[in-house]
Amino acid sequence: MIDFIASDWRKRGSEGHPIEVCGIDLNESRLRNAEQHVRSAHDLIAARFEHRDLARSGFEQADAAFDYGLLCGVLEIIEPDAFEDFVKEVARVVRRGLFIEDLAEKTPGGYPREDLPTYFEALGFRVLRDHWVLQEPYQDQGTLDPMELWPALKVRILFLER
Ligand SMILES: C[S@@+](CC[C@H](N)C(=O)[O-])C[C@H]1O[C@@H](n2cnc3c(N)ncnc32)[C@H](O)[C@@H]1O
Repeated sequence: MIDFIASDWRKRGSEGHPIEVCGIDLNESRLRNAEQHVRSAHDLIAARFEHRDLARSGFEQADAAFDYGLLCGVLEIIEPDAFEDFVKEVARVVRRGLFIEDLAEKTPGGYPREDLPTYFEALGFRVLRDHWVLQEPYQDQGTLDPMELWPALKVRILFLER
């Protein structure tokens, strides 16, 4: 995301503006990995990472603390008894828009939800785009036989805005 925004600014000759990206995860080793590998491609874009169990404790941020939120591969693993509160917490801290990538396959421990947009619509978001895509393993040489590596997975991509 940082690379995308920075290269878009460069293409348009824009000087940019300060952006703070905050990544939150329950898993400390994933956070250490992110801290090690995420590098800002622009002086005005900073990234920081926070350790938190969002399903249990919610966000520590104030209402509308974030302009935009990205939930990639997260909603489908939130347990049913925590799901509605989790969505409410996301809607509380995100002011403007959401990008959601949700695994739509029924996997053990996964809860793909056909009615996913309705939870957010009830909290004031509208759906700008709702795509179902088959995600194949990527290689520099192009897509090889997916069965040799990993099956193609059905994924839902949602863009929501208020
Ligand atoms: C499939 S991974 C996706 C990771 C990352 N979003 C990405 O796109 O590469 C799901 C992530 O959700 C995190 N996660 C699961 N439950 C969580 C919770 N209750 N609070 C915070 N993070 C959670 C897991 O630790 C894991 O890193």
